Amino acid sequence: MNFTLKIWRQKDSASKGKFVSYKVKDISPDSSFLEMLDVLNEDLIHNNEEPVAFDHDCREGICGCCSLYINGRPHGSDEKTTVCQLHMRKFRDGNTIIIEPWRARPFPVIKDLIVDRTALDKIITEGGFISVNTGNAPDAHNILIPKENADLAFDAATCIGCGACVAACKNASAMLFISARISQFALLSQGRLEAKDRVNRMIARMDELGFGNCSNTGACEAECPKGITLANIARLNREFIKAKAV
Ligand code: SF4
Ligand code: FES
Repeated sequence: MNFTLKIWRQKDSASKGKFVSYKVKDISPDSSFLEMLDVLNEDLIHNNEEPVAFDHDCREGICGCCSLYINGRPHGSDEKTTVCQLHMRKFRDGNTIIIEPWRARPFPVIKDLIVDRTALDKIITEGGFISVNTGNAPDAHNILIPKENADLAFDAATCIGCGACVAACKNASAMLFISARISQFALLSQGRLEAKDRVNRMIARMDELGFGNCSNTGACEAECPKGITLANIARLNREFIKAKAV
């Protein structure tokens, strides 16, 4: 397959960026989107040109590093799929593909397609953990958790921290990301002890870091590669109100 790529190139956070067009040829339909970019970069290096910087690590859909806007959508148009799991057979031969970095105020561009997502880590350090000692695995299993809660907590815990929800949101809100963490812990008895502090601290940090609030457009849910639902934001809001009321 052959493609024309329009890729955002930006030297560093202080420089102005622009789209640059490239051609890639003889791409296997079975290669992933990142493998297609690898082919482009090999060509660029071969021609003594600067390769395109993009973020990636596991390439298995679990680390949350890959973060590209493809044809106007974070992670591309395949539902519940990260960029690294997106395959070139999903595109038409000869197509032009537009590739941009996440665009959100709390995520400044570092270079080309790589943005700084440290802001999400800062939110996590405010409450993305429990400090109670749950003992070893059999001890933890002695605390009975209703199956429905265990399933919902597990679903919430599948958030990979990619930031697509922030990039998709017109307010650059991190509410879906935070709500996944809040749900993960609020639904388990081990997480209840620090529930009030956790929600207060995480929301305060989100505001401080320049993320916007949720206005229920649902773009985050639509673009989340892990299917984190708006029901988690509703739970986050309930936890926040409870924390303020008690
Ligand atoms: S909620 Fe979804 S889109 Fe947002 S960081 Fe987690 S996995 Fe990524
Ligand atoms: S590179 Fe790890 S999720 Fe895509």
